[in-house]
Amino acid sequence: MRNTAFFLGKGGVGKTTVSAAFALELAKRGKRVLAVSLDPAHNLGDALGIRLSDRPKPAAPGLSAMEVDLGAWVERYLEESRSELKATYAYNSSFNLDSFFDIMRYSPGTEEYAVLWAIEHVHCELSADFDVVVFDTPPTALSLRFLALPTISGLWVRELTKLRERILEKRQVVTRLNPESPTAASCVDKDDDRVYGKLSGISRRLGVLHKLFAEESFLSVIVNPDILSVSEALRIKDELDRIGIGLHAACLNKRGVSTASWRLDDGLRKLPFFELDFKSEGIRSLDDLARVDATALAAEFLGGE
Ligand SMILES: Nc1ncnc2c1ncn2[C@@H]1O[C@H](COP(=O)(O)OP(=O)(O)OP(=O)(O)O)[C@@H](O)[C@H]1O
Ligand SMILES: [Mg+2]
Repeated sequence: MRNTAFFLGKGGVGKTTVSAAFALELAKRGKRVLAVSLDPAHNLGDALGIRLSDRPKPAAPGLSAMEVDLGAWVERYLEESRSELKATYAYNSSFNLDSFFDIMRYSPGTEEYAVLWAIEHVHCELSADFDVVVFDTPPTALSLRFLALPTISGLWVRELTKLRERILEKRQVVTRLNPESPTAASCVDKDDDRVYGKLSGISRRLGVLHKLFAEESFLSVIVNPDILSVSEALRIKDELDRIGIGLHAACLNKRGVSTASWRLDDGLRKLPFFELDFKSEGIRSLDDLARVDATALAAEFLGGE
């Protein structure tokens, strides 16, 4: 059984609602479930009717929930990078690190890395206490970028590792030819090289996350009965295909809400398909949430269990 689930889709289609209803249904079936909001604009707590923090908190029998503090993860990521660089470039006081970090805070990629390391924390430190982790995702653009990061950063790290290997090989040659050279005093062996060790460490962490996304997770895209949400779902499917991550289900949420004509694209039609009715009375409590029927979706997730 896969033990992690992600729900993706256009803004407002019901990612938070369906994640919470799905998590609640699994908890009812006896699973210990952790629902985690990765959305910087959290509303998982609103859907569950309780106030959440960045630590798991009981929300219903068998169900705990938390909202990741992305701001804190951005600070943690910057601080780690800052101390790493300070240690590496301690000899170079002319390199103004503080202004570099002011820029880095707002540079592309920082938020994605923060989400990625937050997921790693949940996966490696918290998930052992639960049978299933359900992630409520942020807007599509950010979700696609953090899902792609292990693949893209993995390629970078592989190239940097090759480059480092070439540097170490050259140092070994120089050391053999001239044992008195200053190069001989520097590190020539992979096992002792800090930079090589750091790259290997990052590569291992990214590998764990890629495996989590590509092999251990149940990814579902949510649409509403409207053309725009279907177009966005197709874009999500195409982007994920490009990075080797498959979708496992498509959900039509808010079935029955009156809209103009729409149809599910053939690309999505091939996926296991689940329908959840529009609740005209609204969803304001845990009882309302329990009426969003996620039983078939939960059965698909649990497979033959
Ligand atoms: N099946 C449903 N029946 C009735 N209302 C629903 C249903 N699903 C979701 N809603 C309502 O639609 C609104 C948007 O839902 P939700 O917040 O779950 O979407 P979202 O995709 O998480 O949005 P965002 O992109 O802002 O995170 C909420 O008011 C929610 O209560
Ligand atoms: Mg949401």
